[in-house]
Amino acid sequence: MQPGHFSDEAADPGLAIPPDVLAVDPEVMRALGYAMVDRTVDHLLRLPDLPAIREGSPAELRAAVGGPVPVAAHDLASDLALLADTVLANQQHGDHPRYFARVAGPSSFPGILADWLGTGLQSVAASWGGASGPTTVELVALEWLRDALGLANDCEGILLSGGSMANINGLIAARHLRGAGVVYLTDQTHASIPRGLRAMGQPDEDLRFVGTDDQLRFSPSALRQAIERDIQNGRRPAIVIATAGTTNTGAVDDLVQLAELCRQYDMWLHVDGAFGGAAALSPRGRKAMPGLELADSFVTDPHKWLFQPYDIACLFVRGAGSLEQTFAMHPEYLADLAGDQVDLHNRSLELTRRSRALKLWLTFRAYGLPTLQQAIDRGIALGEHAQRCIEARPELEIVTPAQLGIVTFAGRARTDAEHKASIAALNHEGFAAASSTVLRGRTVFRLCIINPRTTLDDIDATLDRLVSNLGS
Ligand SMILES: Cc1ncc(COP(=O)(O)O)c(C=O)c1O
Repeated sequence: MQPGHFSDEAADPGLAIPPDVLAVDPEVMRALGYAMVDRTVDHLLRLPDLPAIREGSPAELRAAVGGPVPVAAHDLASDLALLADTVLANQQHGDHPRYFARVAGPSSFPGILADWLGTGLQSVAASWGGASGPTTVELVALEWLRDALGLANDCEGILLSGGSMANINGLIAARHLRGAGVVYLTDQTHASIPRGLRAMGQPDEDLRFVGTDDQLRFSPSALRQAIERDIQNGRRPAIVIATAGTTNTGAVDDLVQLAELCRQYDMWLHVDGAFGGAAALSPRGRKAMPGLELADSFVTDPHKWLFQPYDIACLFVRGAGSLEQTFAMHPEYLADLAGDQVDLHNRSLELTRRSRALKLWLTFRAYGLPTLQQAIDRGIALGEHAQRCIEARPELEIVTPAQLGIVTFAGRARTDAEHKASIAALNHEGFAAASSTVLRGRTVFRLCIINPRTTLDDIDATLDRLVSNLGS
């Protein structure tokens, strides 16, 4: 044995543990891996015949998967079947053609493939030195998205886990770059935003909920009044949070007017397009959002309307280096990885992060922009079709017209409780999933139809059930 080399397995039993302690037999890995592919493809093919949502009983789920910490090794194949048949069967299926609740997540196969590959190869996209390939893919995918959305070309981006995290990272950057002060939003702003702002330490007295107009959009005149009042009271107006596609109704705030007010008062315009923003990839959707290019920061969630498996959201901030100015850290233990290229861990609060860009990049390449635009346009058209179907039914009335795939409506002369009961019965049965929401104090039905796999029959059958659940 050479000097400095020695074998002391006998001295420490830990060293006698074989290096293949976690290994799985290669033939088993292949067989189970192929079986997972078969399950996924079967799931996609059979979706219309499966429930759109299913809620299990806590006791039954616990009995199936709980118990003490496992000591004996269990059979992988049967536990995978348990995960697929019991665990993953008891959830909402955002990719289901009759999933119209909250916001759907109609994923597509190229994204699924890339996510599998990234997981299998332990993808990471934190630093250039440790992830030059994934970093390049992320920068390229972000540039494609920025340009196809028609955002300002000095926007730089970062991928995050979802709209909540992307908005909050964007608002941290906004506060860092523009300074602290009053933040303006409305009661139609997504609830994760005030929650995130409070977590950032934004004082309640500097959170200003401004009124909306008759279409539930941010009212520019109410905003101007609120800003003037704040200035008179010695406060500093800092950030306006607009929404491009509200969760409740799909409404798009008047970005042009809000941007003009931001310009006049030297404020930051953040646009939350987590749900609706990706619709701007298509000319039909982009037309609904004039002024999107005026946003100082913008969020959209490809796991909502860009056909991606969970999770992936995208934050863009204007100005080269703005994100790094906000988030860069240079500890000694990362110095070996640093260079003169982008270190993505310096663009948000995340350090170790999977390469979410693989799936977005592969989706753009697999379909090309025109096909993605068609898939988006079908969602917008389905929403408008649903509106016409509702208008044709005497028992129903439109509450807000179809906007970016979302339509809200109500049973004529029906109570809030009747609407809630009808939705609960629909979701319990599982044939379709839909939501109720409350608009101007009234409980209404809400369908969010952005899955291109949805058929006209799916919409009709869902309306039939909502009406028949209302009873006579
Ligand atoms: C407009 C809007 N903003 C933010 C969010 C939060 O996104 P996530 O659930 O991905 O965190 C949502 C979710 O539906 C949304 O519709």
